[in-house]
Amino acid sequence: MKLPNLNEARKRTNKEVEYIYLNQKYDNKLFKGQKYFLRTYGCQMNVHDGEEIASRLESLGFEMTDKLENADIVILNTCAIRENAHDKLYGFLGRCKHAKKDNKDLIIGICGCMAQEESVVKELMEKHPYVDIVFGTHNIHELQDLIINRKNKQDIEVYSCEGEVYENISYKRDSQIKAWVNIQYGCDKFCTYCIVPYTRGKQRSRRSNEIIKEVEDLVKKGYKEVTLLGQNVNAYGKDLEDELSFAGLLEGVAKTGIDRVRFVTSHPWDFTNEMIDTIAKYDNIMPYIHLPLQSGSSRILKLMGRRYTKEEYLDLFNRIKNKILNCAITTDIIVGFPNETDEDFKETLDVVNKCKYDSAFTFIFSPREGTPAAKMEDKIDMKTKENRLQELNELVNSYSLAANKKYINKIVPVLIEGISEKDNTKVFGYTDTMKLVNITNGKDKIGQIVNVLITDAKSFSLDGDIKE
Ligand code: SAH
Ligand code: SF4
Ligand code: F3S
Repeated sequence: MKLPNLNEARKRTNKEVEYIYLNQKYDNKLFKGQKYFLRTYGCQMNVHDGEEIASRLESLGFEMTDKLENADIVILNTCAIRENAHDKLYGFLGRCKHAKKDNKDLIIGICGCMAQEESVVKELMEKHPYVDIVFGTHNIHELQDLIINRKNKQDIEVYSCEGEVYENISYKRDSQIKAWVNIQYGCDKFCTYCIVPYTRGKQRSRRSNEIIKEVEDLVKKGYKEVTLLGQNVNAYGKDLEDELSFAGLLEGVAKTGIDRVRFVTSHPWDFTNEMIDTIAKYDNIMPYIHLPLQSGSSRILKLMGRRYTKEEYLDLFNRIKNKILNCAITTDIIVGFPNETDEDFKETLDVVNKCKYDSAFTFIFSPREGTPAAKMEDKIDMKTKENRLQELNELVNSYSLAANKKYINKIVPVLIEGISEKDNTKVFGYTDTMKLVNITNGKDKIGQIVNVLITDAKSFSLDGDIKE
């Protein structure tokens, strides 16, 4: 049994990345006829880890089910970014415990970012003995062995960040049209409120030749879009010697000929003019950037450890808008950071009024155990924070609607992804600027990029008809 030690993430020095080429083979008859239920919370990286977990389960013969009560193995892939993660985990565990009463052989597994939290693992050991396996974000590759070698006890195998990057991973991708591609793991920024560097470890970039090879392979398989994934994609390669910059990598990926290249998430501090030029130069790099602001107050940004001021952020924003035609920009904002004053909050509203974001994810600050901000004294009450969030959301939504309305009566290219979940007479897809479009006709166009006339706009989606 190995327990995570969050502080080890800080100790690891850069330029220690070890590349391990996996060559794992399993008998896919071992669990033939048995079913797995997988639930994933959190960011795109966790979703992509879920695709790896699904592939590993299928390599043993398990088949997917979307009903917990039919499952022989349940895996919960957790997120730790905010406090409500705990409620989700323990609420879900309640359901699993119940299901285990009917099926004593049910295997219950917990993984993801919460499995990297020492206090969570201890709680699972002490209060939830019916959980069978726990594995972390650094040892997903051990899943099959954990299942095969399981004894009738709790198997906990969670590594602290060891500085490794695994290659030759196979994924059961959710889509045959667009694919996630990891370009780096972990994060070196240690923003004072954020748990990610502790649960995912320090930044480790993949080698660019491996990334480009993966994209070339996806092109051959007919994929139309890739999204390059990392917590701070612009810092790509900075942890390695002799590696491309993010702009260089973007160029290499664009040259594979894939129809659409996207990337998340960009940190303003690492955003260079070279990147802006590269995005502007290639038609297949989409004009859409998620550029988290977090706060508009330079005082709060400093306390957050974000490394930029309000003015520097606005300067970057304007450079992007001036250089990349019709670029959509979205953001993340936290309200109620410890001791955020009304003046600080007004600075945030001021940035929103200046940037008029296409959309924004907004959060109330949530103290995460082990992070510096969780130890900061905070005199602001929750009601004030909730009021600020509401005021911010109203402003943000009004700009989203205004940005979407500009599309009405325009013809824009949309990659059609599938049948709409809400209305099966319609299909849905995304514009190059990442706007969701619901389309009345086009069932025969799934997987294609087609011209769509936009007929109506709401805050969170557009409506349209295909125009040949
Ligand atoms: N790497 C990305 C963010 C990943 S987390 C970046 O640097 O922008 C996604 C978002 O969750 C963050 O942008 C932030 O707005 C929010 N978040 C992170 N930690 C939080 C916390 N402790 N409380 C509230 N929101 C938080
Ligand atoms: Fe968290 Fe900051 Fe890293 Fe983003 S850049 S993952 S907010 S520490
Ligand atoms: Fe959550 Fe971990 Fe992603 S904490 S946001 S799943 S990196």
